Amino acid sequence: METWSRTVVLLLVITVTCSALINELPPGKEWPANNSVKQPFDDDPETTTILILSEKEPSNPIAEHLEVEGPEETIIDASLPVLRSTSPESRVDYTGAQIWKVSTQNTNVRGVIYRLRRRNLISTWGGNQSSIDILVKSNAVNNVTRVFKRERIPIEVVIEDLQQRINEENPPLDPNEVELQNRRGHRMTWKQYHRVEDIHGFMDYLAKTYPKIVSVNSIGKSYEGRDLKVLRISDGKPTNKAVFIDGGIHAREWISPATVTYFINQFAENFDVETDDIKNIDWYFLPVVNPDGYEHTHQSDRLWRKNKKPSRTTSRTCIGTDLNRNFGYRWGGKGSSGNPCSEIYRGSSAFSEPESKALSDFIKSSSANFTAYITYHSYGQYLLYPWGYDNAVPPDYKDLDELGNRMASAIRQTRGSSYQVGSSSGLLYPASGGSDDWAKGQGIRYSFTIELSDTGRYGFILPTSFIEPVARESLNGLRVLAAQVAKL
Ligand code: ARG
Ligand code: ZN
Repeated sequence: METWSRTVVLLLVITVTCSALINELPPGKEWPANNSVKQPFDDDPETTTILILSEKEPSNPIAEHLEVEGPEETIIDASLPVLRSTSPESRVDYTGAQIWKVSTQNTNVRGVIYRLRRRNLISTWGGNQSSIDILVKSNAVNNVTRVFKRERIPIEVVIEDLQQRINEENPPLDPNEVELQNRRGHRMTWKQYHRVEDIHGFMDYLAKTYPKIVSVNSIGKSYEGRDLKVLRISDGKPTNKAVFIDGGIHAREWISPATVTYFINQFAENFDVETDDIKNIDWYFLPVVNPDGYEHTHQSDRLWRKNKKPSRTTSRTCIGTDLNRNFGYRWGGKGSSGNPCSEIYRGSSAFSEPESKALSDFIKSSSANFTAYITYHSYGQYLLYPWGYDNAVPPDYKDLDELGNRMASAIRQTRGSSYQVGSSSGLLYPASGGSDDWAKGQGIRYSFTIELSDTGRYGFILPTSFIEPVARESLNGLRVLAAQVAKL
């Protein structure tokens, strides 16, 4: 038994079933790695430069660019125990909190939003160049309404009671479904949002059921000690290109792991009858990059975004790093924060977090011929290519734009959903330290961040009835990418 399993059995006898016992490749049967594993900063001087920008009101508050009050605090790295925080915490209650869509036409909107966020009355959910979705805290609704009235900023109340939406989002399965689950050998469905245990159990099941094409490896552990499980689907042809797909970098974006596991299910269960494009690719899937955060959204705070590693500072302790600001390409630049309490905290250094470090180490050390990297997020319906760190595009951006547009039309043809295509800095806002930028910087030709549905009606709290249609149209987009990669 592995160390992990032993630890878990000791600590969580009652709550965790030891799914890691089955289907992990035995030692020696691991996927081939490059001979010399480069260290993160070996050949990338960019990532060793730490930029600490001075504070000022950001031109674009969506990006929450440095919302620190006071000087940067010294971060003391704590030594880390093996498995942490297993006791159920109390739930964050969003009763009375609202989601508003605010148009950014009015020139003072950004400043108003910035100030309201600094006073902790609102937080930002999403947005682009033309509008911003904000969460108004329940005890601040009257106050914030008055401010927007006074400033003559029109708003649209999109969600009147957030907690009510959260309560309705993920109802238990009906008895027939549960019956099916029990007979299938795994509990995964695309009718509900599932816990990490179900997702990992499903991956292990596929490896056991289709050992010739499916294998599962843990590429490392999260801060709290959960496995970072990657599932590979491959017929083993040495000429295959490879595609890496991940989900769940941000904990609250539940549609992302649901969609990635949908792809896995489709390819693994139907591999024999799949297209040659699909069969000529080695697929690597990491459906939950941030399992600690994901579990936290199920148990304690539905809107948690970051991972769960605490940052100890001299004056206060805040929890979590935004993993999508922690990757080592132009780390520390625009659209990331040095404040550990920020939702876009970049971490104490590039790859300071076990989850982003494991992902990047795996890709760097793998001998697979990675030609595409796609990371699934929500929400907004965007197909984004680099760069994210600043308003710039890579030399081959026309290829990315062209492929992105073809993927978007395949998605649209499924049931009419429209996805906007563009560079993430151009279409959304500059944000450095993203996994897509890093992948592109590694030389992976096609690197995309896909922001899944919806466009703001439900935002992160997307009802379960959306899972199948969203995943199905996304699969059609992915098939276009597969055709492109396979023909190279
Ligand atoms: N919503 C995503 C985020 O804020 C977009 C990331 C796009 N990529 C980037 N490198 N900025 O993390
Ligand atoms: Zn995200």
